[in-house]
Amino acid sequence: MKTIVITGVTSGIGLALIEHFVAKGEHVIGIARNQGSLETLESEIANKKLKGRFTHVVCDLSRFKDMANTVTHLNQTLSSGIDVLINNAAIVPKKKQLTEDGFELQFQVNHLAPAYFIIHLKDLVAKKNGTIITTASNAHKRAKYDPNDLQATRKRYLSIRSYMRTKLYNILYTAGCRAEDKTSNIRYVAVHPGLVRTPIGTKDTSKFYAAMWKFFTRRGIHPEQAITTYDQIVYDENLTALYYYNEQEHTPSQAALDVHNRSHLYETTNHILAPYSPSEKPSHK
Ligand SMILES: NC(=O)c1ccc[n+]([C@@H]2O[C@H](COP(=O)([O-])OP(=O)(O)OC[C@H]3O[C@@H](n4cnc5c(N)ncnc54)[C@H](OP(=O)(O)O)[C@@H]3O)[C@@H](O)[C@H]2O)c1
Repeated sequence: MKTIVITGVTSGIGLALIEHFVAKGEHVIGIARNQGSLETLESEIANKKLKGRFTHVVCDLSRFKDMANTVTHLNQTLSSGIDVLINNAAIVPKKKQLTEDGFELQFQVNHLAPAYFIIHLKDLVAKKNGTIITTASNAHKRAKYDPNDLQATRKRYLSIRSYMRTKLYNILYTAGCRAEDKTSNIRYVAVHPGLVRTPIGTKDTSKFYAAMWKFFTRRGIHPEQAITTYDQIVYDENLTALYYYNEQEHTPSQAALDVHNRSHLYETTNHILAPYSPSEKPSHK
């Protein structure tokens, strides 16, 4: 039985991933922000009497305090290791917002949060010579890398532009881990799931944008069809490329392959995250 930790499991691709891997007999630990949805999900999956099991951790990825508690909890409960970590959660909010930690919301949820889990869970993943998958997107191909404005605060906020940048960062940070982690046997991989009919473009946005998203994705694939690439990576250790789409190795943009971008993002991200390291014991929320 593999131990698989997945973020963003209460809808869309994450939801399909947990059902898939629990049906295959794995222990999936799902992380999301909505306690009610997670509890309902846990009892629904238990009632299905699948081969594996599902447990959950409530964590708001826009709060480092929550993330630190989650990391501490996982270190205490999964001491034998994690086979697979899938950083999957992301958002595309219409309005610019700052988190309580002071970062642009998409920058924190879509980029800093996955990097935080990689930094603080990689020892557990290394114990199993495991795999860290980050859900990126081919939307990154239209993003520019600006080392002087990583949060895109110098420009007028455009939700899709910020989203594309964070998806570029997902690939760059994955590439940074591959280049810098010289001690473990962890496979660091990024995935484009395809155009998938999920509610991501309908949350925290206007009715107009929500309708646009539904129209845009009407020909998209169902979340169950998007997870075959993840399945392949999880069970085939020979798949060691940086980026996959449609069950095949895929070439990301030049900006995503640029070594200066890669080391700048990797170092800057680690520097930003250093003060938020978890303490030994979970702090009170
Ligand atoms: N859909 C596509 O066509 C597409 C294409 C390319 C890439 N992707 C990528 O695929 C991944 C999954 O997206 P999806 O389309 O499946 O979206 P989704 O259905 O909206 O799922 C996102 C998940 O992340 C959770 N989440 C959001 N903010 C969170 C926070 N602050 N703390 C904890 N959990 C949070 C959501 O929780 P709630 O249920 O509470 O909102 C939900 O469980 C994302 O990384 C996205 O960028 C999607």
